[in-house]
Amino acid sequence: MDTYTHGHAEPVLQSHRWRTAENSAPHLLPSLRPGLDLLDVGCGPGTITVDLAARVAPGRVLGLDLSPEPLGEARAAAASAGVEVTFAVGDVYALDLPDASFDVVHAHQVLQHLTDPVAALRELARVCRPGGLVAVRDVDYATFTWFPANPGLDRWLEVYYGVARANDAEPDAGRRLLAWAHAAGLRDVTATTSSWCYASPAEREWWGNSWAGRATASSFAEQAVAYGLATPAELDVLADAWRAWRDADDGWLGMMHGELLIRV
Ligand SMILES: C[S@@+](CC[C@H](N)C(=O)[O-])C[C@H]1O[C@@H](n2cnc3c(N)ncnc32)[C@H](O)[C@@H]1O
Repeated sequence: MDTYTHGHAEPVLQSHRWRTAENSAPHLLPSLRPGLDLLDVGCGPGTITVDLAARVAPGRVLGLDLSPEPLGEARAAAASAGVEVTFAVGDVYALDLPDASFDVVHAHQVLQHLTDPVAALRELARVCRPGGLVAVRDVDYATFTWFPANPGLDRWLEVYYGVARANDAEPDAGRRLLAWAHAAGLRDVTATTSSWCYASPAEREWWGNSWAGRATASSFAEQAVAYGLATPAELDVLADAWRAWRDADDGWLGMMHGELLIRV
């Protein structure tokens, strides 16, 4: 059983529910059209799923997550957007779905958390119809770049790597997606990148508060202490570093994501 680094505490969901199809699935959007059946695996609070559903309606849309925790919020998001989406518990390694049952199979920021992303890609491809698309996107933590310099943020990244690697997960997933697809026997692959940048006062407020909270009150924080990677007092220093970044008038943060469109 894999250990998911972030968990679903409120400051984590605060970060994930910002995501939209536009800011998180730019590689997939040009391929979408009404009537396609779409599966979103590791959907979390479902904001991307709901956006994608609006674009493929009246196609069938299913959002799956290993954890039931974020699915109530995902269902509420679909209801308030007025789109038809079914959300259910499901495991990317063993989807309870027939072969070739969806035209588009999507997973955003999921493979980086798995101990066996190649097996997951094989399973995503299994449920994709011939001629359909598997679309994945994962950040590469080594590309996290910020201003101004802050040793507390350097230490945050170090602790993040420590926790993720202790979970046998891969923080530098973005650069590895193509290799993982090839290892899964998938050869018709288009690899691209896109980035997120947070610099406006509202973006700094949102991201800085989210990570200040996550540093001290989330699965990441619990695991950092349990694995002996940081003390609670050190986690407070990481939270303070994110608050200092949030409050810096020139604060800037960028990160690159790897993306794949895999034709099955
Ligand atoms: C970083 S979140 C991404 C959520 C959403 N895709 C987004 O981008 O907002 C990763 C999600 O993958 C889920 N997850 C982790 N392992 C999984 C597995 N084996 N099968 C399905 N979902 C899984 C987690 O519960 C979590 O909700």
